[in-house]
Amino acid sequence: MTAGTVTLASIERELEDIERDAVVRAAEAADAAALEAVRVGVLGKKGSLTKVLRGLAGLDGGERPQAGQVANRVKKAVDEALAVRREAIGTARLAARLGGPQVDVTLPASGQPTGHVHPLSVVMDELCGIFLSLGFSIAEGPEVEDDFHNFEALNIPADHPARDMQDTFFIEGGRLLRTHTSPVQVRTMKGTEPPLMIVAPGAVYRHDDDVTHSPMFHQIEGLMVGRGVTFRNLKAVLTEFLARIFGPDLAVKFRPSYFPFTEPSAEVDIGCVMCRGTGSGDAGADAGRCKVCKGTGWLEILGCGMVHPKVFADVGYDPEVYTGFAFGIGVERIAMLKLRIDDIRLFYGHDMRFLAQF
Ligand code: DAH
Repeated sequence: MTAGTVTLASIERELEDIERDAVVRAAEAADAAALEAVRVGVLGKKGSLTKVLRGLAGLDGGERPQAGQVANRVKKAVDEALAVRREAIGTARLAARLGGPQVDVTLPASGQPTGHVHPLSVVMDELCGIFLSLGFSIAEGPEVEDDFHNFEALNIPADHPARDMQDTFFIEGGRLLRTHTSPVQVRTMKGTEPPLMIVAPGAVYRHDDDVTHSPMFHQIEGLMVGRGVTFRNLKAVLTEFLARIFGPDLAVKFRPSYFPFTEPSAEVDIGCVMCRGTGSGDAGADAGRCKVCKGTGWLEILGCGMVHPKVFADVGYDPEVYTGFAFGIGVERIAMLKLRIDDIRLFYGHDMRFLAQF
């Protein structure tokens, strides 16, 4: 037999060497990567066993089947050795993990901070919800208004002193930022036949800025029109509304007042929620007077009245047939009293330490 000559005997010997060597190395493989290296070295494209199988072509036709049988047995043996070691490595890894540091699933999760509704929106929704439950529906109007809807149609003509009370932001083109939600009354009546019951929540704008005034704030306008609507209905609705916000024992007082678009007009005072109507504060502070009601025991909370016949005439309602009441509520004022906040600017400051308290 010359060197390089392939014989059945030499191939069988070679195959057995491969088997012995592979089985030992598989058993010694420390981890999955080492085991994979053994597999590739024997069974891979350039592996030792693969090479021998290719060499079978050089054998006599009669010897090939026998050599093939040996090769198959060796391949099976190597596969088996690899599988046994693979399982052992897997088991050892699992045991190591279970024996290692434990995850305590009962510990509190660190969690992600979640956002929440702005306190002003919470109060706004609560107030609107009360009116919805009383049978009112929601109406809306634009924040950029014209002189007609914001003033003229509400019986506030150009030279009317009431215009000075509402420091208006004017925009070019004769338009303005609405100074109150009352123009929504006009817009709703122009598009709807009575009877109607609406509330109009929204932002309003005035040139004003201190601890209790913001250039942008919110109102809820109310309007009820029909046949035979009276001041008694107005009192019933607003008394019920205030009792639901501040509690059933709340003192409520209707005081005569003036608005150009209502006649008669009233302002509603409630017993001070801070000093419970006593007017006295902490001794020493503000000479012992309650700072919120300035010692009066009362807080002015909203304006209201019976819709002026002139307003009806402007929108085409017959004042001989229909009557109605209207009211305007400052949302920030109520939110400040409810949440016990003494600076309106906190609502718009985006300070999470403040906002997160609600
Ligand atoms: N629009 C008034 C204001 O902003 C508030 C108001 C008072 C609205 C009386 C009304 C009302 O509807 O009847 O000062």
